[in-house]
Amino acid sequence: MSTRRTYRWPQPLDGQRQRLWYGGDYNPDQWPEEIWDDDIRLMRKAKVNLVSLGIFSWAKIETSDGVFDFDWLDRIVGKLGKAGIAVDMASATASPPMWLTQKHPEVLWRDERGDICWPGARQHWRPTSPVFREYALRLCRQMAEHFKDNPYVVSWHVSNEYGCHNRFDYSDDAMCAFQKWCKARYGTIEAVNDAWGTSFWAQRMNDFSEIIPPRFIGEGNFMNPGKLLDFKRFSSDALKDFYKAERDTLAQITPDKPLTTNFMVSTGGTPLDYDDWGDEVDFVSNDHYFVPGEQHLDELAWSASLVDGIARKKPWFLMENSTGAVNWRPVNYRKEPGQTVRDALAHVAMGADAVCYFQWRQSRAGAEKFHSAMVPHAGENSQIFRDVCELGDDLRKLSEAGLEGTELKKSSVAIVFDYQSEWATEHSANPTQKVRHFTEPLDWFRAFADLGITADMVPMRSDWDTYEVAVLPCVYLLSEVDSNRIRRYVSNGGKLFVTYYTGISDEHDHVWLGGYPGSIRDVVGVRSEEFTPMGDDFPGALDHLNLSNGAVAHDLADWITSTSPDATVLAAYQAEERTGMNDVPAIVVNPFGTGKCVYVGCKLGRDGLRLSLPQALDEMGVGYPREADAGHVLRVERKSEDGRRTFLFYFNRGDDDVKVEFEGEIVVSSLVQSETRNTASISPNGVLIVKGQ
Ligand code: GAL
Repeated sequence: MSTRRTYRWPQPLDGQRQRLWYGGDYNPDQWPEEIWDDDIRLMRKAKVNLVSLGIFSWAKIETSDGVFDFDWLDRIVGKLGKAGIAVDMASATASPPMWLTQKHPEVLWRDERGDICWPGARQHWRPTSPVFREYALRLCRQMAEHFKDNPYVVSWHVSNEYGCHNRFDYSDDAMCAFQKWCKARYGTIEAVNDAWGTSFWAQRMNDFSEIIPPRFIGEGNFMNPGKLLDFKRFSSDALKDFYKAERDTLAQITPDKPLTTNFMVSTGGTPLDYDDWGDEVDFVSNDHYFVPGEQHLDELAWSASLVDGIARKKPWFLMENSTGAVNWRPVNYRKEPGQTVRDALAHVAMGADAVCYFQWRQSRAGAEKFHSAMVPHAGENSQIFRDVCELGDDLRKLSEAGLEGTELKKSSVAIVFDYQSEWATEHSANPTQKVRHFTEPLDWFRAFADLGITADMVPMRSDWDTYEVAVLPCVYLLSEVDSNRIRRYVSNGGKLFVTYYTGISDEHDHVWLGGYPGSIRDVVGVRSEEFTPMGDDFPGALDHLNLSNGAVAHDLADWITSTSPDATVLAAYQAEERTGMNDVPAIVVNPFGTGKCVYVGCKLGRDGLRLSLPQALDEMGVGYPREADAGHVLRVERKSEDGRRTFLFYFNRGDDDVKVEFEGEIVVSSLVQSETRNTASISPNGVLIVKGQ
């Protein structure tokens, strides 16, 4: 369990009422000052009430070593504040200026081959450099001293997306810091040797000074996995340590201003352990970029639910999303009509009390000139800006109806997310590279949504064991402590789903022995002797397995060789005898204590899970909506703590209009075709928000 900082939310400007925050990253330093007044006119038109300022402005604030220029920043902060627009001020430390890196090239990070990451983009610094730390903290002090009494600065935006470009650094500074980190974690070099299994391939070390980062070792996946896993932990901690130094420098001078740093929670990757980082911010903020195509809404809801889990259900801040295309994919898809507004409101549904974009005005130059913004190249007379204004209006209506401060209602189902398992399963020397922890939770989230249940994504360290139903999807690493927690949950009546590739190794990635899943065989009631990976890279190799319930398994299945006497097989494989998989159990239910566990021994994907879940839920005695179209709508509820304010959000998940029935008063609707007092038809990409009675 974690210890959190006290939750603190940016407060409204003097004389203003609390409202959902609305705005984006603002880079006035990319524009001539004549544009600034027009920016403010347009911000007011769109009902923007907050901007993040100065994120990449170091070179313009500290123009040369120790020479600071705040004049331009004061001018724009003053204009914004007078217009009633609050400032989320950056520490401005995300991208060091040229003069600094020319003078101190030793602050640049190095890749695994020792090559330098040169200036030319951003985040080219190493978090373990004492020199860089000195410069960055000096800037933090200057910023804090300068803005400490400024009433328009309502919060700090510390750095930007730590680890986006500099997640791993293999420099000598990093090596020394890694040695210290290992010493603090393990105490003795013998304990490191044990944890990393260094008896293998003569890797034994006599002293901490023999620890080096996982630098280039030639091609192939032969790096020590224990070291790799610890290097990921260390890298998250090294950045966190740097963040904490920046945060504390700011907080010491401006204790009244809440602080955050923007996370990158999405299915796109897990550079940092964001649940662990969640302990260190006053309020959680996140950047999310939509995944084009059929996953769009579900993936967004999944990511936002995980952010809500990291925020422990306190309102969180959507620091960045996009009004339309990004610039960093091979093909940068536009949003479909309605999606700009719908996406923002979907984040709000999942617990966000602030909607911000990257960025306010689309750049004319630089690497992101084709990234969408709130004011596009086309200007004010554009669909995007009209959407931005519509959204401003929607957020105002929601604020007036009293949405802010309400919390996403707890679901009956928790799907566990585990950063450590993701890091361990990313390694390529595993049974298959087709399966990672990350590949499973979204399928479960979508399969439950197909049945009309919006599940909560819950970090492993959090309170998943207080839910009626919990899912452990490919939670590959299980410590003894976590295994016992699982045991207690089920024996006390919990209803648990466990998938293949769970409980395989302990926290050092040492395999639990005696048959998989070694740490919780008693709970799941199965024993598997080998993995059955599937693929299509060799003609004639096993590429799928049919199940007796009609589902199809791909990528990985367990070879379950025995089940406990109390267990019941819900589905088995139907395969050719020669594969050794015919009649092998695939889905098994096992009573344990007063609870039940369903083990899903293979990767079924969203479709196979949707097909298999009803029977499993019936076995467990878990209710779910029986209507065939229950999954056409994503239904979410936010509630105030006293239960007096309730908001219901309905999103169309599919390609056809859907009809919903509701009780209450419509506050916001977008792409809603027809309404009566308590029914409405929602078009694709549409949303309906109702205040309950
Ligand atoms: C984020 C970053 C922003 C901008 C955006 C573009 O990673 O914080 O500064 O680059 O991506 O999508």
